[in-house]
Amino acid sequence: MANNNKALSAANKAKKDEFYTQLSDIENELRHYKEHFKGKTVFCNCDDPYESNFFKYFAINFNHLGLKKLICTCYAGSPVVYTQLSFFGEDKVIGKEPSDHKPYKIEITEVKDLNNDGAVDLTDVELLLKSVDGQPTLLKGDGDFRSEECIELLKQADIVVTNPPFSLFREYLAQLIAYDKKFIIMGNQNAITYKEIFPLLKDNKVWLGYHCGHTLFSVPDNYSVPDFYDLADRTKLRSNGYIIDDKGKLWRNLGNICWFTNLDIQKRHEDLILYKTYTPEEYPKYDNYNAIEVSKTAEIPCDYDGAMGVPITFMDKYSPDQFEIIGATESEGKGFSNGLWIEESKVAQPLIAGEKRYKRIFIRKK
Ligand SMILES: C[S@@+](CC[C@H](N)C(=O)[O-])C[C@H]1O[C@@H](n2cnc3c(N)ncnc32)[C@H](O)[C@@H]1O
Repeated sequence: MANNNKALSAANKAKKDEFYTQLSDIENELRHYKEHFKGKTVFCNCDDPYESNFFKYFAINFNHLGLKKLICTCYAGSPVVYTQLSFFGEDKVIGKEPSDHKPYKIEITEVKDLNNDGAVDLTDVELLLKSVDGQPTLLKGDGDFRSEECIELLKQADIVVTNPPFSLFREYLAQLIAYDKKFIIMGNQNAITYKEIFPLLKDNKVWLGYHCGHTLFSVPDNYSVPDFYDLADRTKLRSNGYIIDDKGKLWRNLGNICWFTNLDIQKRHEDLILYKTYTPEEYPKYDNYNAIEVSKTAEIPCDYDGAMGVPITFMDKYSPDQFEIIGATESEGKGFSNGLWIEESKVAQPLIAGEKRYKRIFIRKK
């Protein structure tokens, strides 16, 4: 019974990871990173090439970006491997039965104008995938990004770009850092305060990319909405983050999705315009941290030189040229308060006149 429960919980966890990124969201983000891709090997290691818009983006833009190589691997646990092939018609690639659903990789070093129409586009990518040069190769293992063969591919890569499983985000990012890789990956904004991730942001080893906020993901056909939702009640579904479009297709709307990267981008050198001036009445000090409370990032005072507590959304506006990150309120029982803690207290949240505030990041103007 215990084992059954364990299996069920693993399956539920895996299911929660099945959000597929839209091409328009990838295009909107990656247009800011074009200069980084020339001559580089890109690895998408949580991406079924027949389903992933990351593969599609890099294959279509292979020449435009001047890529050296594109590698994509998919995961055996993915419910869409071999099942949908939404981009390229209904053809099944290898095997027809679920038992044949073995993960594979595709490696591309060239995308040519195969239909001779004067341009390289999706039709050429489709033709490439049907040609001998574009055939997938079966992986030996299950395609887990942590497996030996996927790590060997990771070593070849210059830049890793994907939307990884949210439930494994900590491990996923730790692996990229351990192998000293450049990356552009999607994750939940709450990851900012994870004890494994905050120190990387604080030390300017990772920062946020451009988009941060609501993001609409496609979910597989076999994705099940929790039973307590009535599929006919579209308004209620929408207020709980599910959208059914006019064609009956289900989408998941997640409110706080960010891109995490360690590639230099213009945005992180843009100063926040500060217009407010400090008054002790408007910016009270915490009872338990030696800093003032600034409840909105836009209201950081321009004339205060001490420590300030700001919401985690500050990270979306952070420029290391303008501010220094000095700590954060306790997260998951581990403090990052770095000397800001005034009294011995078990309270993880900052207090003002005994009232709890949300998680805060502590910053100081440079
Ligand atoms: C959030 S989805 C995103 C899929 C795709 N990257 C995209 O953006 O459309 C995460 C994907 O990671 C896959 N996955 C889950 N666990 C994995 C693992 N251990 N190794 C590699 N991929 C995994 C899932 O099957 C799922 O397809």
